[in-house]
Amino acid sequence: MAGKGIFEKCYNFTRSEELKKIGFYPYFQRVESAQGPEVLIDGVKKIVVCSNNYLGLANHPAIIEASCEAAKKYGTSCTGSRYLNGTNDLHEKVEQKFASFIGKEQAILFTTGHHANLGALTSLAVKGDILLTDKLDHASIIDGALLSFGTMLRFKHNDMDDLERLLINTQGKSSLIVVDGVFSMEGDICNLPKIVELAKKYNAGVFVDEAHSLGVLGEGGQGTGQHFHLQPEVDVVMATASKSLASIGGFIAAKKEIIQYIKHTARSLIFTASLPPACVGAIDKAIDLMIAEPERRIRLLEISKRMAAEFKGMGYNIGLSQTPIIPLAIGSDEKAFLMWRKLFDAGVFVSPVVSPAVAEGHAIIRTSFMATHSEEDLEIILESFRKIGKELGVIQ
Ligand SMILES: Cc1ncc(COP(=O)(O)O)c(C=O)c1O
Repeated sequence: MAGKGIFEKCYNFTRSEELKKIGFYPYFQRVESAQGPEVLIDGVKKIVVCSNNYLGLANHPAIIEASCEAAKKYGTSCTGSRYLNGTNDLHEKVEQKFASFIGKEQAILFTTGHHANLGALTSLAVKGDILLTDKLDHASIIDGALLSFGTMLRFKHNDMDDLERLLINTQGKSSLIVVDGVFSMEGDICNLPKIVELAKKYNAGVFVDEAHSLGVLGEGGQGTGQHFHLQPEVDVVMATASKSLASIGGFIAAKKEIIQYIKHTARSLIFTASLPPACVGAIDKAIDLMIAEPERRIRLLEISKRMAAEFKGMGYNIGLSQTPIIPLAIGSDEKAFLMWRKLFDAGVFVSPVVSPAVAEGHAIIRTSFMATHSEEDLEIILESFRKIGKELGVIQ
């Protein structure tokens, strides 16, 4: 058959089938219930320790209600791009609400966080510009940088000497430092004070992806910029609605001129359909609840601190985690898959992260916590990790 060669890689791709055959396939689990601290899979309850539902809002009655109301009023789809017929007053209301919450002049709402990073970075970095990215930045930042006509230079994870070396080498060019506020696998926080200092010294812009810090860090949950009291120094804030905000969608917030430019040049905004009203209605209500119920964030941080201390006390290596994302070093990919299976059978649903996402031999189990985990949930999680970790020799 002509052109068959293009598919050869598909026929040679057997890893997922092999894992399924031996019962160690952890991906695409079919959840049969709403997302909460517990879900049903194959009719069996599992405690979720791998979601980004940090504030526990993904199944909140008031948000569901707001989502339904928005669908009733505006229909199920905007059937077009934000640029053309797909902007309604709810999109604009939510953008204004987000901009004022985050402390920036304006915001623009993309259909996903991935689209937001792609759109903003490809718009901002044109030929001759430099994007300085952390080696552990999220894939959507890397994709945006690769698709842009700028040059991406990557510095070692949170290594400010390495960042400064790149800034010195590129002096005289227009550059933008792009970092995750909280790193999505490691759970550590970017060194924003030093980044801001270097950006000033070398006249670079600062772009912070607050996907995992919105609702989690800062006195009001604004994220890393607020956590360090440096929000005015962050030129561009990116955030996603798919984690703390119980919906989907990606925000870029900045000065009016920057937003107007991105709005009129970002291909991932202009050439895709806008966020459906039901999702925007959910974001609208979720922002209100995030502001009105700070106790959720406080509980989340208490749980995170406690779980990190407990895991460490058991002998797990949790790396540099400072947030609700707590990675546990496991070792080989095989051990991580085995650990996943045993935890799953014990009723604990986690994510194994194996090569090539991490270096071979450095597989992790990524745990992440939510404000609505009960004390009983936490006890079961800890007991399972204690027992299974010992059985597999990950801890003593
Ligand atoms: C750091 C970071 N940025 C961006 C994204 C993309 O966000 P979304 O899920 O809204 O596309 C993610 C999602 O996993 C993320 O972790």
